Amino acid sequence: MSGDVRDNLTQEHGELALRFGAAQREIASGDVQRARAAVALLRRDLDSHFEQEAHLHFPVVGGLRPERRDALQALVAAHDALRARVAEIDGHLAGAGELGAARTALEALEAALERHEREEEALILDLERDTGPSA
Ligand SMILES: [Fe+2]
Ligand SMILES: [Fe+2]
Repeated sequence: MSGDVRDNLTQEHGELALRFGAAQREIASGDVQRARAAVALLRRDLDSHFEQEAHLHFPVVGGLRPERRDALQALVAAHDALRARVAEIDGHLAGAGELGAARTALEALEAALERHEREEEALILDLERDTGPSA
């Protein structure tokens, strides 16, 4: 069961990386409306991913390893700050169309999200070491 969680999680993390790439390309192209549309898609998928983690993936992991519920809860709590950063990026684009500020904020968010994802994946890989891939 934890193998399914890991596969879903790593697949969704890969899809989010593609959304970041698309948003970066649109910002670099200089078209504010297209950049906003790409950021909106990133935001939609990020929100959906966070919901899946909070309500589907992490409860499975927490059920197998109750002692890790605190760590999982901390990861869920971190989602709010990450969401706020996406809203900030849209704010840069919505106002005066500040593409430079949006690009910088997007790069910083991507780095922060990658750290967050590495923590998640490490927690789940660690779980598999303890329980075996078929657990
Ligand atoms: Fe997460
Ligand atoms: Fe995640």
